[in-house]
Amino acid sequence: MMAHHQKQNMRDHLEAVQQITAAVARSDFEAVATAVKRIGYSEQMGRMCEHMGSATPGFTELALEFHHRADTIATAAQSRDPSAVSAALAETLSTCTTCHARFKQQIVDEATWAALPRR
Ligand code: HEC
Repeated sequence: MMAHHQKQNMRDHLEAVQQITAAVARSDFEAVATAVKRIGYSEQMGRMCEHMGSATPGFTELALEFHHRADTIATAAQSRDPSAVSAALAETLSTCTTCHARFKQQIVDEATWAALPRR
């Protein structure tokens, strides 16, 4: 159930990135700021990440770093500078890929899981 919930979150993160990219392409900085709220830090988001990472050392820290970095996209949007927004988005996306490289859900049987290659 938690794995499913996490993947729903992830798909929402991707939609947020899609909206941010579309908004910056048309220099709509208000829409950038609105979309960032879906991935920015909030106490509620923080609690959810602590819950998700409670059994996985390092996960919550990376998750919180990701949400704080996402907030820098909103800060960049205030400057109404598309390249600053894109740069902040790129920095944020690097936390997505770092986490994906480091963590996988355990949704297969134990033997398959143990044999999976790790980066
Ligand atoms: C703190 C860790 C972490 C961060 C940060 C993170 N993800 Fe994920 N994400 C995961 C894990 C773990 C999975 C599950 C991978 C697996 O299937 O084993 C996942 C899966 C996904 C999936 C697949 C969902 C599905 O339905 O299978 C998408 C899409 C995704 N992430 C997008 C993103 C995007 C976009 C960002 C950044 C904007 C992001 N993630 C940031 C940990 C993270």
